[in-house]
Amino acid sequence: MSTLGTIGLVNGGGDAPGLNAVIRAVVRTTYNRYGGKVFGSFGGYDGLIWPEKGKEFTPFMVRGILPRGGTILGTTNRGNPFRYKVMEGGKVVERDFSQVAIDNMQKLGIEALVVVGGDGTLTIARDLQRRGVPLVGVPKTIDNDLSATEVTFGFDTALHTVTDAIDKLHTTAESHGRVMILEVMGRDAGWIALEGGIAGGADIILIPEIPFRLDIVLRTLERRKAAGSRFSIVVVAEGCKVQNDDPIWLAHKHAPQFLEKTSIGNLLGVLISRAGNQDVRVTVLGHLQRGGSPSPFDRLLSTRLGVAAVDLVAEKQFGRMVCLRGGTISSCTLDEAVGRLKMVPPECDTVRAARGIGIAFGDE
Ligand code: F6P
Repeated sequence: MSTLGTIGLVNGGGDAPGLNAVIRAVVRTTYNRYGGKVFGSFGGYDGLIWPEKGKEFTPFMVRGILPRGGTILGTTNRGNPFRYKVMEGGKVVERDFSQVAIDNMQKLGIEALVVVGGDGTLTIARDLQRRGVPLVGVPKTIDNDLSATEVTFGFDTALHTVTDAIDKLHTTAESHGRVMILEVMGRDAGWIALEGGIAGGADIILIPEIPFRLDIVLRTLERRKAAGSRFSIVVVAEGCKVQNDDPIWLAHKHAPQFLEKTSIGNLLGVLISRAGNQDVRVTVLGHLQRGGSPSPFDRLLSTRLGVAAVDLVAEKQFGRMVCLRGGTISSCTLDEAVGRLKMVPPECDTVRAARGIGIAFGDE
């Protein structure tokens, strides 16, 4: 069995339930299986630029963190060492701090990094690796939009939160006979809206991959009313898109400016209540989806990924990312892992199943 010296552990980008489970798995495996140590970098890559922000983590220090949301390392979606923002002459400028991070790794005796992140953090990891830094990636995002892995940890917990929210909206929607709009996360991809919407029994789901028309959404709502439904649940991904020729959108020429100041859910609420003469309420679920205790599925996946990442480091298989394929943990190159987001294929079986049970997507 090989042994390890010191591994540096970085997590960057938005937090996701299960991050602490990865940290725990990395620390325990490094110590127990390989007799090594873990230096935890605080605040993404910042802890490599400012090493005083990091410290060694022992198995004792990660006790009790498995069920905790967030990350004990803290995180940021700003600290790119290649384009690090600093104040110079009263102005914010971008400077390349990557060599500082690499030099600090050497000073700290870090022989390799485990980097946990989404597309942005892993792209930085890929670039560091091209500069000669030995590292292994672990995929993370509640949005589940990384193409090289079947599922990312955090997604399942987010689905529980969304499903619970829709269940609660159902009861109040039914009592008042209202249209309830629930806006969920998913800047680029609509996985949370699609799967959470189906699991919660939504009537309409709007996702970025299937641009919608407001007149079609209104028609669906009218049809439901005419058929005797007193209420409707509309789940909207924050990044969903209106079709270019949408007549209602075009008629509201201030909508794009309004959208800059608010969210698509709020804008839809205004437009649907005006155009459809319906009693509408909007809920923006926001960061509730990123918080809280990870689900058992996410705890298990995070643990498996964390252990596998350390195993790859011990095998010196650098420049790779651990991933889930066919239900088994495997790995791919970082080049395969980044730069291509996994979007919802509009013809996939999940969309077809949703349409089959009568869920509308605002496009037909
Ligand atoms: O990338 C994950 C994500 O949850 C997106 O869906 C969302 O747009 C973004 O994070 C929000 O990030 P922030 O924490 O910067 O508001």
